[in-house]
Amino acid sequence: MQFFLHRDGRLHVESVPLDAIAARFGTPCYVYSRAALEASFRAFTAALAGREHLVCYALKANSNLAVLGVLARLGAGFDIVSGGELARVIAAGGDPRKVVFSGVGKSAAEIRQAFEADILCFNVESAAELERIERLAAEHGRLAPVSFRVNPDVDPKTHPYISTGLKENKFGVAFEEALPLYRRAAASRSLRVVGVDFHIGSQLTETAPFVAALERILELVDALAREGIALHHLDLGGGLGIRYRDEAPPPVAEYLGALLGRVGTRSLKILLEPGRALVGNAGALLTRVEYLKPGAEHNFAIVDAAMNDLLRPALYDAWHDIVPVAARSGPTRCYDVVGPVCETGDFLGHARDLAVEEGDLLAIMSAGAYGMSMSSNYNTRARAAEVMVDGASVHLVRERESVQSLFALERTVP
Ligand code: LLP
Repeated sequence: MQFFLHRDGRLHVESVPLDAIAARFGTPCYVYSRAALEASFRAFTAALAGREHLVCYALKANSNLAVLGVLARLGAGFDIVSGGELARVIAAGGDPRKVVFSGVGKSAAEIRQAFEADILCFNVESAAELERIERLAAEHGRLAPVSFRVNPDVDPKTHPYISTGLKENKFGVAFEEALPLYRRAAASRSLRVVGVDFHIGSQLTETAPFVAALERILELVDALAREGIALHHLDLGGGLGIRYRDEAPPPVAEYLGALLGRVGTRSLKILLEPGRALVGNAGALLTRVEYLKPGAEHNFAIVDAAMNDLLRPALYDAWHDIVPVAARSGPTRCYDVVGPVCETGDFLGHARDLAVEEGDLLAIMSAGAYGMSMSSNYNTRARAAEVMVDGASVHLVRERESVQSLFALERTVP
């Protein structure tokens, strides 16, 4: 099902033309489709039907309260990596008892905040973190629920910056360390062992690395069972890729089918932590062409969105389709689509064949994940507005920032 479609020569999201959104809210503007979001969530829950499960949306991908609220109403849990994200889940009406807390650097304050909120589980990433959680739990008279994020040392075959399950990465506990750590946790009066988790990287387009990782984790699950340490859940992490250009990631049902087949009859509740696969293709970044600047080597289309709005091209050399909102007839030209920021790395796309004029609107596609959530105020640029479309309704879900707010916390000195 497509939620961004050209109709009568204009790009629409659900039943709303994007030019109407630009006219009302200005550009740059992130636009999300509620129906797309719900459809991608339902693909996960449908593939898990018949098994006890909880889909914990990794909100680092897009933490707008409207996105969280829509998913919370569908029964989602959440994968958080900071106290800030926990606060967002609660503010959006999410259930903190469906929250798993990942990340290598949980502070004491964050751990206490998680106790207060009564979260489902800490995904523990080191022996030192385990000690800290145990000590704080004892101090607060708590029984802290823990899972270990085990690093299976599997190559996810994705961009090195978003590859996390290799021995050399900072994430998780080494496979060899896991068994002794579980023994320690199981013997503690302040800890309750509830599960195991792994997450090997992001934007994976093959099932095989997930299966290889799971097989190692299941070895551990079985070894633990032999010692009488029974786990309640198995958290398969996130990482399923989406189509940005010509990638062909496995459909959710196929990917999960392969994994669930390996889990077999073991009685484990299945948790997942998808981010990108839920929101990536549910959003686009709407931008307007400020200037066309033809040149000897390159033609530039200078737009009003920039690397501060969408960092992925600059940071990972990532591809996002760039689509004119109103199709123009006439010849195309090859453009580098760039923003106003003072960096050569400030581009949204290189060498794109486009028929555009000054003032035209462009949609940067597949921008729902790691778009707004990685944006910044570099060059004192106010962050974009965010809009969620729901059928024919349009909701402003984050106002465009005011310039004054960007330095409201700052002071000059005498
Ligand atoms: N669980 C954990 C522990 C994670 O670290 C991540 C993502 C996820 C789940 C969700 O992964 P996903 O399903 O979205 O692949 N900024 C990069 C992606 C960084 C991913 C970080 N961890 C990008 O724009 O491609």
